[in-house]
Amino acid sequence: MAPGIEKAVLAILEENFQSYISGEEIARRLYVSRANICKIVKKLKNKGYRIESSTQKGYCLRHRENYLSDYLIRQYLNKEIQSAIEILPTIDSTNDYAKRRLAEGDSRDLLILSEEQTAGKGRRERSFYSPQQKGIYMSIGFHPVLAVEDVQLVTICAALAVCDAIENVALICADIKWLNDVYIRGKKVCGILTEGEIEIETLQYKYVVVGIGINVQREPTGLPAEIRDVYTSLSDHTSVAIDRNRLVAEVANAFSGYVCLLEENINNKERIIEKYKARSNVLGKKFIVNQNPARIYTAVDITSSGHLVAENEKKEELVLNSGEVSVAEAGHDS
Ligand code: BTN
Repeated sequence: MAPGIEKAVLAILEENFQSYISGEEIARRLYVSRANICKIVKKLKNKGYRIESSTQKGYCLRHRENYLSDYLIRQYLNKEIQSAIEILPTIDSTNDYAKRRLAEGDSRDLLILSEEQTAGKGRRERSFYSPQQKGIYMSIGFHPVLAVEDVQLVTICAALAVCDAIENVALICADIKWLNDVYIRGKKVCGILTEGEIEIETLQYKYVVVGIGINVQREPTGLPAEIRDVYTSLSDHTSVAIDRNRLVAEVANAFSGYVCLLEENINNKERIIEKYKARSNVLGKKFIVNQNPARIYTAVDITSSGHLVAENEKKEELVLNSGEVSVAEAGHDS
């Protein structure tokens, strides 16, 4: 059976959410036998989809809240976003998967999602906790028309997009800890990891993969010790049921909007940085720089390239271009 058939059956059931559609009608639309439709529905049920079957009426999808679906994502996705969407039940890392696909020559823009990651990656070789159906683990693979030195702005666009989407979908205010962590009330709700490959001859990006991990719901069985103090999830702050499909689409829409602004005119980066600064939770805060000896600096500005400008008590300036800061006042590093 062609691999896309299962997806197509699900899309038809989703289109008819809460109402019945006959097996015969589905079979007719997809040019396959009714027996095949019956087999596929069984498979979908085994995967946890609540589908009712009636010999008279056919099939009816009853529950669609807690799973990712490209059909549902597309309901909210801006029509001009043509990325190929792929939803995996499990994967090592959506970033690694997207990079493998792009390195093999897939020239499309990609939106890769997984219900869980077995080796989710964070920056600095940390792991990213990715339990099943409790978060959004997504990678946007694309071919930016941006200079290599502006790639930091891609991460900035992603952080802004996540904040916008969280506000729209969950109605919660989020802020950004430079460079690429999104916080809610002092705790980390999202991490972003941007990777890419550069064409040496042209010094252009062959592709960039922006990996975004959002904690949506806390795992009731507890958290790994290393993230216990800093972790938060959206459902810790709202009783609104979070529609992960809509959240994914809103992140992708906002991200694409910001990147288009940059690609249209790189001078738009000033506007983007202003928005980013307004969301920053480090500006004006003290943090520790591990020089020898360690010094306390105050974050005073973010440059138009996304670098953090800080000064110490002697007014000596320091410009940091990547990495993270350990905010002294907040008392933790994440
Ligand atoms: C960080 O916190 O340092 C960055 C975390 C980035 C996590 C996301 S989840 C989707 C994508 N796949 C990964 O393996 N990592 C990113």
